[in-house]
Amino acid sequence: MEEKKFNQIGVSFKGSGSYVPHQILSNQKISQKVDTSDEWIKSRTGISERRISSSEDNVTDMGYKAALNAIQKANWDIKTIDLIVLATSTPHDLFGSAPSIQAKLGASNAVAFDLTAACSGFLFALITASQFLKGGNFKRALVIGADQLSSFVDWNDRRSCILFGDGAGALAIEATNKFDNFIGFDMRTDGERGCFLNLPSKNIKDSIIDNIDFVSGGFSPIQMNGQEVYKFAVREVPIILKKLFKITNYSSDQVDWLVLHQANQRILDSVGEKLKIPKEKILSNLEKYGNTSAATIPLVMDEAIRKNRIKQNDIIATSGFGAGLSWGSALIKWG
Ligand code: COA
Repeated sequence: MEEKKFNQIGVSFKGSGSYVPHQILSNQKISQKVDTSDEWIKSRTGISERRISSSEDNVTDMGYKAALNAIQKANWDIKTIDLIVLATSTPHDLFGSAPSIQAKLGASNAVAFDLTAACSGFLFALITASQFLKGGNFKRALVIGADQLSSFVDWNDRRSCILFGDGAGALAIEATNKFDNFIGFDMRTDGERGCFLNLPSKNIKDSIIDNIDFVSGGFSPIQMNGQEVYKFAVREVPIILKKLFKITNYSSDQVDWLVLHQANQRILDSVGEKLKIPKEKILSNLEKYGNTSAATIPLVMDEAIRKNRIKQNDIIATSGFGAGLSWGSALIKWG
């Protein structure tokens, strides 16, 4: 991908928001269900607990609350929002949950749609929305990442159930002709390696009448080859970030914050080491929330913004990665 030069329309970051369900599932509690321990989970992943959605916290509810937060921070009149992109793999309605969020917000002038790219979903949605703004069609966009993987985890599979939790995050972004704070991006997918992480259709055949078969809807729980996914992440994420620095003419020491998809603390540490970015600059909230899929990046960013860690004009290198397999990177300046 060629370097993107600022010409006329750029992107400005105006606000962030997040929401997590109230139910807390600690490692100790998981070990009452499967043969594992707090010590094993913490040492292999960095996770201590995760949040689990109840019936009042589906993706639409969580996404709405995170979005409302971001709108308030941006100080926007809701009617001025043009675009809502919801990154999720677990919509409340398979036809799309973004329009329900639009309705709950009362954002009647926006167009809203879902985008699915698993744990890369938020990054892909941020890139998508930014391109709409830069294209000049829309002025204000809400980018939401929300997932409820607890509904699709096999709670008897100790190799995967320990990793995931539920939550939502959102960023409010706006077109401007004064500067461009969306500095560059890169995106990749490799379906050949897609078999390492799936949430597949149950694929149960039935028949409507004689000789006319159909496949009934519904999904099997998450299937994961943890070691292969781990190897993929620690190899590809540093490569795509190094490429990002090259195409944007930035170097890793100019980065104030490295914001990676929160999958595993060991992945964060390894990527940081390979890029020579010190631990203090790597955002992490895995301990409290685990892997919330499309929500991790805006959730950890919102926390850092609220704590005044991420400040105006800070340079943020971000990378999402996961099922597909899919991965991507973006370099942004906050504000
Ligand atoms: N508690 C206790 N033991 C467990 C366990 C658990 N929750 N899960 C697996 N084990 C056991 C295995 O059965 C295995 O035992 P064995 O050697 O007797 O067969 C042993 O621990 C090692 O298993 P392994 O799969 O090699 O562990 P690991 O060090 O690779 O850690 C993951 C497993 C899942 C934590 C790690 O592979 C990982 O994080 N991968 C990336 C997954 C990911 O991020 N997915 C989402 C991407 S968006």
